[in-house]
Amino acid sequence: KKDILTDTFGRKHNYLRISLTERCNLRCTYCMPAEGIQLSPKEHIMTYEEIYTIAKKFVDLGVTKIRLTGGEPLIRKDASLILEKLASLPVQLTLTTNGVIVDKFVDQFKKCGIKTLNVSLDSLDAQKNKDITRRSYFDKVYQNILLLVQEGFKVKVNCVLMKGFNADEIINFINLTKDKPIQVRFIEFMPFDGNRWNMDKMVSLQEILAEVDSNFEKNDILKLEDAPNDTTKSYKIKGYQGTFAIISSVTNPFCDGCNRIRLTANGHIKNCLFSSKESDLLTPLRQGKSISSIIEKAIQAKFKVRSGMDTIDKFKQIDEHNNRSMITIGG
Ligand code: GTP
Ligand code: 5AD
Ligand code: SF4
Repeated sequence: KKDILTDTFGRKHNYLRISLTERCNLRCTYCMPAEGIQLSPKEHIMTYEEIYTIAKKFVDLGVTKIRLTGGEPLIRKDASLILEKLASLPVQLTLTTNGVIVDKFVDQFKKCGIKTLNVSLDSLDAQKNKDITRRSYFDKVYQNILLLVQEGFKVKVNCVLMKGFNADEIINFINLTKDKPIQVRFIEFMPFDGNRWNMDKMVSLQEILAEVDSNFEKNDILKLEDAPNDTTKSYKIKGYQGTFAIISSVTNPFCDGCNRIRLTANGHIKNCLFSSKESDLLTPLRQGKSISSIIEKAIQAKFKVRSGMDTIDKFKQIDEHNNRSMITIGG
């Protein structure tokens, strides 16, 4: 069988990220503009049957891991139904969520064989958390993270660091891993439409490591192995139960190992987080046409590197406003 998920650089795309909705119950500053975004008309959003049909197609082509994202994936009214449908496919199913309502889904997650969840939490201070998310759910999310851990899920906590907001909380976050078996991930702030990115707000891998170095003994900072497709560079403080990691898309891109393909809530393929060209799968699907050749073309058109300082600069003039707001990509 022809391997249409392998691109011209030999990267095999076996990890599909599906955004279920453009909506969210938070308003994070790094993800969306204060005034909100123009939502796709409801009839342009994939139904749960369409999500399943497209996901199944990708699985038949070789996808082995599906991550549901948003907006916030769990606020879709049919989120449970979608989870159940996708759980019937032979894939590792997982989600990235803001954690606000995960407590309502614990049994559902177990039923669907979900083992890991990535939860966003950008500050351990309720007021700062409110400044970042423009909503007051800190206690709820924190309790929900503890609940997930207690219920046996493997939890990764995503923290987008920004100067002037939460850059002073690196050590507090690492201290969380002392007696909790979680992975805290510090993420370099990336540019997307409407998020007012600039280099001065971003906290780099190098700055994060410097902060760690000046707060822990050299011998206590252990570097861990990362899988070839991982976004992270992982570490551990000796004796701590959990780990911490850095996602350095801007200063140290990891495009060489990229195995990701994205499906937006309105049924478009994005072959890269930063790609401005999209391929509409939903319209042909609704017309009863085959979508394999569209998937193949989208994969073949993928750039070698799109993340990183050089490319961000290079593509700035061309398509700064052609990429989406992060809220409609899902990470
Ligand atoms: P795992 O599957 O657990 O490794 O998670 P993940 O890191 O792939 O996904 P998650 O949704 O938790 O995203 C964490 C951060 O990594 C977010 O800031 C994403 O935007 C970023 N990220 C995820 N995939 C990619 C990617 O392919 N390229 C780049 N540049 N960033 C990515
Ligand atoms: N830069 C880096 N990460 C981001 N995320 C959202 N917006 C950005 C950005 N501008 C992260 C969120 C979420 C994940 C899906 O993407 O923290 O955990
Ligand atoms: Fe893959 Fe694009 Fe992310 Fe690079 S920037 S790792 S090519 S999705």
